[in-house]
Amino acid sequence: MNDNIAIRVENICKSFGDGDSFIEVIKDASFTINKGELAALVAPSGTGKTVLLMMIGCVNEPDSGEMWIGTEKVFDNRWLTKETRKIRREKIGFIFQAHHLIPFLNIINNLILLPQTNKTDEKTSKAEARKLLRYFGIADKEKAMPSQLSGGQNQRVAIARALINNPQIILADEPTAALDTQRSVDVMKILKKIALEQEVAIIMVTHDDRMLPYCDRIMKIEDKKIVFV
Ligand SMILES: Nc1ncnc2c1ncn2[C@@H]1O[C@H](COP(=O)(O)OP(=O)(O)O)[C@@H](O)[C@H]1O
Ligand SMILES: [Mg+2]
Repeated sequence: MNDNIAIRVENICKSFGDGDSFIEVIKDASFTINKGELAALVAPSGTGKTVLLMMIGCVNEPDSGEMWIGTEKVFDNRWLTKETRKIRREKIGFIFQAHHLIPFLNIINNLILLPQTNKTDEKTSKAEARKLLRYFGIADKEKAMPSQLSGGQNQRVAIARALINNPQIILADEPTAALDTQRSVDVMKILKKIALEQEVAIIMVTHDDRMLPYCDRIMKIEDKKIVFV
């Protein structure tokens, strides 16, 4: 197996409902994303972008097919581990349109929540959190509450939170949709830099064509399959 591959998907299928409410969303989708690659996922609303991301993120179970995260095969018509949560915690970072920071925890405590769940001690996780805050130019905000930060600053914190466990993959579902153009471009530059410097594979759903020049590849969903344009 090529160890440059971060995500490999073979023939995954996903449908919902039955009878009149049956809907086939993804059918026999196959693709690979390499380490260090920033891929955009662009497709009309309701075509399965979030469903696809949540399957890769080991949140939603595909109906059939195979999936690998790095060299680890995680799905072969069923999960190959009972601990999909462990895969998520250790290998995958999620970023959403809303930052989903915990409003009653300050910035640094928001950042160290996940590492503490993974049993990293507080001193180590705080040091890592401070490093990320410096990297994102918001080191002075560690004691601030999310409500005291701007939308762009909170989204940087959310990206830092996604990075804190050194994930192999970042899945970003419309991370710039709530930001103005300048803040969106800032976020794109950060994602690009992370992909390059940390060899993380990033799949980012976006509706904004202005973000595409920052991406290495553009994926679309066509006829329930993934195509690259
Ligand atoms: N849990 C679910 N139960 C039933 N249908 C769902 C569920 N999740 C998604 N769908 C359907 O799958 C299709 C794709 O949804 P989604 O991935 O959210 O689209 P988008 O491309 O806008 O992110 C939609 O028709 C949606 O209604
Ligand atoms: Mg969606």
